[in-house]
Amino acid sequence: MGIRTKLVLGVAFVHLLLMTIFVFDLVQRQREFLLAELSNRTLHHAQVLAVASSAWVLADDLVGMEEVLESGVRGGGVQYAMIVDPQGRVLAHTKREITGRFLIDRESRNALSGRQEPHVYFETEKSLYAAAPILVAGRLIGWSMLAVDKSATSEHLSYVTRTGLAYTMVAIGIGTLFALLLSRSILRQLRFLLRGVDNLHSNILDRPVQVVAEDEVGRVASAFNRALASLRSSLELLNREVIERKRAEEALRRLSRRQVGAIEEERKRIARDLHDELGQALSGMQFCLKSMQGEAERSNSSLEAPCQKLSSEVERMGVSIHRIANNLRPATLDHLGLLPAIEALIAEQLPAMGGKLSVKTDASGFRRRLPPDTEMIAYRIVQEGLNNVIKHSGASHVHLQLTVNHPNLIIAIHDDGMGIDGHRDGTVEGTFEHGIGLIGMQERAAAVGGKVDVKSRRRGGTTLRAELPYAEI
Ligand SMILES: Nc1ncnc2c1ncn2[C@@H]1O[C@H](COP(=O)(O)OP(=O)(O)OP(=O)(O)O)[C@@H](O)[C@H]1O
Ligand SMILES: [Mg+2]
Repeated sequence: MGIRTKLVLGVAFVHLLLMTIFVFDLVQRQREFLLAELSNRTLHHAQVLAVASSAWVLADDLVGMEEVLESGVRGGGVQYAMIVDPQGRVLAHTKREITGRFLIDRESRNALSGRQEPHVYFETEKSLYAAAPILVAGRLIGWSMLAVDKSATSEHLSYVTRTGLAYTMVAIGIGTLFALLLSRSILRQLRFLLRGVDNLHSNILDRPVQVVAEDEVGRVASAFNRALASLRSSLELLNREVIERKRAEEALRRLSRRQVGAIEEERKRIARDLHDELGQALSGMQFCLKSMQGEAERSNSSLEAPCQKLSSEVERMGVSIHRIANNLRPATLDHLGLLPAIEALIAEQLPAMGGKLSVKTDASGFRRRLPPDTEMIAYRIVQEGLNNVIKHSGASHVHLQLTVNHPNLIIAIHDDGMGIDGHRDGTVEGTFEHGIGLIGMQERAAAVGGKVDVKSRRRGGTTLRAELPYAEI
């Protein structure tokens, strides 16, 4: 139920209650007053009849008594009047046929035997009955008795009741109107306030509530506006801080990306130098040693054996340099792409495990080459992830999943090894005391806006999951 309905019903009810009590009380008092006045009037009337008829009663003059009664019943709502002797015989009556009869009803008999003074001896819904003694020198010679109609009193009372009810209706109407006006002024401010709350809910903070009242609700609206203003300024401050922080993060990411790029460039340069310069020099040495060995063989010199040893040493050095250069920057990654480079990496690393570790690789979504940065970071993550499995896990099986799902490349490496020592089950967070492999992975991923999570369960294996966002090329 709304405030307006409550207020209107409440005011109407209070008015109805108060006016009903008031009208009831008024009618009661009015009834008492009118009855008292009627009985006074009737007694006076009876007494006047008694005095006026006393001489005719003494003289036993029926005509005189009837004349007195005739003049007595005119006006005043008298229904009938009579003169009776002390024994209850009707000496004269306004209805002549009753003259000479005896009063036998209980009330009239009681009135005649009662106190010798004017009194009301009986009362019904419609009539009031009074009697006054006819006294001559203190001796009772008869009674004047009359009945008066009460209907005028009842009519007056019902008129008062009707008027009271009309006033009650008017009071309820005025009260309702007042309640409507009052609720309108309260609700107007409340409506503005509710609109303000709705705006706040929809994140509209630049529309203060219109303050149209100076009462408590108006003060609440002003307080709401003040809270809104401070919320707005705090949000602006927060937004500025967020923007600054984002800028700083972006700058950091750019720096980190440049660093990662610079490191890769440097590795590439060293790999190239190793391959081009040392490799060339070793090839030259190899050539010289081969011709020296041929010369020694022909001249049957004792230098043949050392030359052969040196030559195979140099050949081994060449293979090592090739491997180191390839490790620094795998040529397959640049020329053939991520998947072939990873296959080559696995093929190269597995023999070192003596066949104890099996690797299953699943790749999906690779339709074209990914950006070089992404490929290089992905390669390094897989390289370090596999290294860790080999070094720390004691696993017998590794599952490597590579999924391209634009805009992310997702790498998952799951092993069935012993789990990361010293960590509780679940996601592994924080720094790692013993190495920089995982930290390096996280930094590389962060440089392109990605992330690396490691989940580990004691004796339940480790899962490394990297998400690298990339831009389509
Ligand atoms: N797959 C794994 N299974 C079990 N433990 C692991 C695994 N991967 C990492 N760890 C644990 O996490 C630690 C941190 O790994 P991280 O690669 O950062 O360092 P590291 O391999 O010890 O050294 P670095 O990588 O610098 O040569 C490891 O020392 C190892 O205890
Ligand atoms: Mg490591």
